[in-house]
Amino acid sequence: MNPSKLLSRITFLLCSLFYFSSVAQSPINLKTEYLVNPVGLDNPNPRFTWQMNDKRIGAKQTAFRILVSTDSLALAQGKAAEWDTGWLQTSASLKTYAGPLLKPFTKYYWRVDLADKNKIKSTTVKIASFEMGMMDGKNWQGAWISDNQNPTVKPAPYFRTTFETTKKIKSARAYIAAAGLYELSLNGEKVGNHRMDPMYTRFDRRNLYVTYDVTNQLKKGKNAVGVLLGNGWYNHQSTAVWDFEKAPWRNRPTFCLDLRITYTDGTSQIIKSGKDWKTAFSPIIFNSIYTAEHYDARLEQKGWNEVDFDDTKWKSVIYRSAPSDKIVAQALHPIRNVEEITAKSIKKFNDTTYLFDLGRNISGVSKIKINGPAGTIVRLKHTERLYPNGRADMSNIDVHYRPTDDKDPFQTDILILSGKGEQSFMPHFNYKGFQYVEVSLSTPVDLKKEDLVGYFMHSDIPIAGSVKASDPLIDKIYYATNNSYLSNLFGYPTDCPQREKNGWTGDAAIAIETGLYGFDGITIYEKWLADHRDEQQPNGVLPSIIPTDGWGYEWGNGPDWTSTIAIIPWNIYRFYGDTKILSDNYENIRKYVNHINETYPTGLTTWGLGDWVPVKSVSPVELTSTCYYYADVVILAKTAKILGKADDYKKYNELALKIKNAFNNKYLNRITGIYNKGLQTELSVPLFWGIVPEESKALVAENLAKRVEADGMHLDVGLLGTKAILNALSENGYGEIAYKVASQKTFPSWGWWIANGATTLYENWPIDAKSDISMNHIMFGEIGAWLYKAPGGIKPDENQPGFKHILLNPQVVEGLDYFEATHDGPYGKIKSAWKRIKYGIRYEISIPANSTATITLYMVRGIKTTLNGRRIAEGFVQLPAGNYIIEQKAE
Ligand code: BGC
Repeated sequence: MNPSKLLSRITFLLCSLFYFSSVAQSPINLKTEYLVNPVGLDNPNPRFTWQMNDKRIGAKQTAFRILVSTDSLALAQGKAAEWDTGWLQTSASLKTYAGPLLKPFTKYYWRVDLADKNKIKSTTVKIASFEMGMMDGKNWQGAWISDNQNPTVKPAPYFRTTFETTKKIKSARAYIAAAGLYELSLNGEKVGNHRMDPMYTRFDRRNLYVTYDVTNQLKKGKNAVGVLLGNGWYNHQSTAVWDFEKAPWRNRPTFCLDLRITYTDGTSQIIKSGKDWKTAFSPIIFNSIYTAEHYDARLEQKGWNEVDFDDTKWKSVIYRSAPSDKIVAQALHPIRNVEEITAKSIKKFNDTTYLFDLGRNISGVSKIKINGPAGTIVRLKHTERLYPNGRADMSNIDVHYRPTDDKDPFQTDILILSGKGEQSFMPHFNYKGFQYVEVSLSTPVDLKKEDLVGYFMHSDIPIAGSVKASDPLIDKIYYATNNSYLSNLFGYPTDCPQREKNGWTGDAAIAIETGLYGFDGITIYEKWLADHRDEQQPNGVLPSIIPTDGWGYEWGNGPDWTSTIAIIPWNIYRFYGDTKILSDNYENIRKYVNHINETYPTGLTTWGLGDWVPVKSVSPVELTSTCYYYADVVILAKTAKILGKADDYKKYNELALKIKNAFNNKYLNRITGIYNKGLQTELSVPLFWGIVPEESKALVAENLAKRVEADGMHLDVGLLGTKAILNALSENGYGEIAYKVASQKTFPSWGWWIANGATTLYENWPIDAKSDISMNHIMFGEIGAWLYKAPGGIKPDENQPGFKHILLNPQVVEGLDYFEATHDGPYGKIKSAWKRIKYGIRYEISIPANSTATITLYMVRGIKTTLNGRRIAEGFVQLPAGNYIIEQKAE
């Protein structure tokens, strides 16, 4: 029976059981621009997404209708829509707003009504909201202001003003844009729980503003607004090899603020940044995003951001020009202190020296509670490792730091106590990568384990996946991978949270699938691709770190790294089924590909760094870079097709073929099926990126399997090989070998790191490497995605992207008794789990409403396969939405 016939038969049999029960379905998880009820959007055509809550087998949406209104009550009654899509007969669960122009500062409500598989319409009304922000730079009322200091001045400035409200407040919103970092407060309280806003952009090209609902923080009568500004990447005062202190945008931080208050009587008032504000130095006497923060508590000005504070001694502010002419909404998940981590131990070396151990490596900050005499200097040195004598060892992470004196020690906060009782300190404008905090004091103070905690900080994106395996090593590898992924997400993906904090393109390209299986990170990547567009040269060239001050256009920016311009949008499309990122970046991908084509007309390119930090063997740069170039051209051709650009589709398909032929003619021995010398990277990278001729695939894969066996089932790859190797094996029939490599416990392997106590992934395979030894790098992190793809067997189908159709091919491997992977895709939770049972295997599969799946099973003679108890003969089964048990047992 062909698969579609089987699908309808299964649907019919299973559905008939439920047909008369008419179970209600309802829309759930309504999001606008991938955020829950966001405020402050600029996109005039926001995207609406939703899921269908319908547990029935074969559940699907046959039609939807969206209503948008400014009146939530009318909307609840199905009336007064600003926009009514009418009933659209489609199963799509993403719709871009296309109604009348949305107005700035306006809150809209929307609902989506769904019709189920029987065309029965939902009765449950779900209402979500979104609120437009400035939408247009012209709508700002406030001035860009700062204190009158030059960029080398160290103390961070405070700003304040007061204002009066006389009437009953209906709503209030604060809009704040800054070059640098800010903390906003109202009546003495910090606004919101974001950390280190706004996210890093190329400040002279694009700046982000953030919107807060502050209705509840205002009071009738007098109110005070306070702003504290930090340097961030805008005013880099520390010196390191990337020259950020020479950034073309560098200046003293500045901000612009509009506080819009709407009263119940319909009138409104705008409090704005301007000459009526006053400024003074804060107790933050130094702040560097790269190194640390220094704080002199003796300089605290109690109540500085409250109404009754006497600011007569404060200075006037100055006007500044806007840092760029593009001030746009920061519509993304913010950085937060996501997890509090208590210290696992404290060690006292002497009266003035302690070492706190958090028990795991994180990105973030520490917070200390301490009570000591005025003037006591507390130094908090943050490191990832210890010297044999137990003291904090910085030597693996300060290697690219170029200090000009000893006043700005790396990853070392300095706190000077006020002597006015217990105080707590946590830096405002800095984060670090660390596990240990060595505290040294200029005067003895007794410290206990509870006096210091760590906060794991990162872009606070929702968790979207899980992995559980019978081998605890696999769970530990998955945990460490996620820790490194998140440690490297701060509004842009980074390489490491300590030594660099750079937006290294290559590292992010490797990590994209691990990120998207495990987390709902689209908002961050859409922002980062806008950063790419800001940085791209007119000829298509991109820098190797994004954002950048200019460093990286000359080094490391070949296609093996900067293919992020194509690879990231393509993966977002695969995982979300949304074409926006493809159309937003289409011209940029095209320029990029055209540039390589013009520079390397043969189709082979030597531009790149190659298989960075390899175990031992080195593969030719041309081999790996050409595969990436090929991948970009294939993505470009496919994108052209999706966007209806027929000429480009043809043109870039031809270019892809040219590259493929040139590559295989030079590197592939078609008789032996060996590329170049047949190293792991040389065989797996062409397989993974699909450049191997169809007829040679099996032989190349067999050679790869043999190579890995000859290498003792251990890795012999660098970063590019790591992306490819496990997939190249498991996609070509060698899942068992892939698993052996993935679950190794001896050098070189992920398990070797874990055996040595790792809670994050490292930058180098040997534990005792002398260079490239950050202990929190994501560049070897593809294993996270591979766990979903191979033992989990969950893959999106690029022909029906966003897991509209799910490809399921769970690979049962020796060494595991059970394995479970779940992924919350655009349609809901997908589950693929298997466990060994007596005489066989039992699979548990969940396919969310409004999606389908094809499961590929390994069929063996003498093994009986059943689906929900009914025997099936095919190993290739199409399934409608629902929960299924499949068993394969000896007869
Ligand atoms: C970074 C890497 C990066 C590499 C590029 C290193 O310093 O930490 O992760 O991709 O440089 O060569």
